[in-house]
Amino acid sequence: MLLVFGMFLLCSCSPRAGRSLLNFFFDGVPESDSTSLVAVQGIVQADSTGQTGEELVQEEQSVWIHYPYAERECAACHDEQSLGSMTEPEPGLCYICHVDLSEDYAYLHGPVAGGYCSSCHNPHSSENEKLLRFPGDQLCFYCHAESDVYSNEMHEDLDGMVCTDCHNPHGGEDKYIFQ
Ligand code: HEC
Ligand code: HEC
Ligand code: HEC
Ligand code: HEC
Ligand code: HEC
Repeated sequence: MLLVFGMFLLCSCSPRAGRSLLNFFFDGVPESDSTSLVAVQGIVQADSTGQTGEELVQEEQSVWIHYPYAERECAACHDEQSLGSMTEPEPGLCYICHVDLSEDYAYLHGPVAGGYCSSCHNPHSSENEKLLRFPGDQLCFYCHAESDVYSNEMHEDLDGMVCTDCHNPHGGEDKYIFQ
């Protein structure tokens, strides 16, 4: 797991601003080592092994970090006495801070209705925008078999379109959750 040391004060986002996540560049983490090194806009902190940034740099990768995680507000979601218990089950956990999606849509996508927000979003951080667990259409194919999807004539000729060009991942007016 990535331990993030950092200068989170550099966050320039406000909850209402469009740009909402911190975009960090971190240095490659040695696989055998659970500690890590993080370069935040050029500021590098060595880990306990005393290795410096240059020794550990492998490749640059950008990571999106969920605001409350970056701020180390662990207790917003986790019971402080035991990290395994959440302050509330999902989706209520997410609705502490985010708009209740059932207010936005007449019809909710299956996993949203079931409250499985973290089946698509990593609650801590991700290499993908919007904290998504998988990039692009891969997210959809995690649950919808590719063969099923492409056997539907509606999907025969998508011609470079992505799933979310037509479908809203959260909900819509009817069960086909169109955008
Ligand atoms: C926005 C809510 C939220 C915040 C803030 C948050 N967590 Fe989590 N955390 C979760 C959820 C939800 C899971 C379960 C993830 C899953 O099911 O994959 C989890 C899982 C974990 C786990 C289990 C292993 C893992 O990574 O899945 C650990 C350890 C953990 N969190 C530590 C922390 C620490 C430490 C902080 C503060 C720096 C923190 N969390 C902040 C929501 C949160
Ligand atoms: C303690 C408050 C808090 C909780 C709880 C919380 N979030 Fe967030 N979340 C934020 C803030 C603040 C931001 C950044 C500002 C924004 O876009 O609203 C954010 C951003 C996000 C983003 C990215 C938004 C974007 O436009 O890039 C996603 C996705 C997200 N949260 C999902 C979740 C999920 C899923 C849960 C439940 C597991 C959750 N959040 C729980 C406060 C919270
Ligand atoms: C099927 C996968 C999936 C599930 C389940 C899901 N989301 Fe999302 N979510 C997405 C995708 C994809 C985006 C990016 C949408 C975009 O970029 O237009 C997103 C974007 C977001 C954002 C950023 C603001 C926005 O609308 O673009 C927030 C906040 C968010 N989701 C919260 C939640 C919460 C809370 C839940 C659970 C109630 C949830 N999501 C469940 C796929 C999912
Ligand atoms: C975590 C699992 C999961 C993920 C990821 C997921 N879905 Fe779904 N999806 C479901 C479930 C469960 C249903 C409800 C199926 C039902 O009611 O028969 C559903 C239903 C749908 C439906 C309506 C189908 C119908 O006949 O009711 C569409 C369209 C859809 N998903 C598109 C998407 C798209 C596009 C993505 C990627 C952005 C996606 N799904 C990602 C689980 C998922
Ligand atoms: C050009 C728009 C468009 C795109 C892009 C698109 N769909 Fe659809 N999808 C539709 C339409 C229209 C329907 C409704 C079919 C019907 O009425 O039976 C549908 C239905 C579905 C259904 C329910 C019926 C079924 O086949 O099980 C699922 C699930 C689904 N889409 C998933 C996806 C996924 C995953 C992707 C990305 C690979 C995707 N769609 C891309 C237009 C689109």
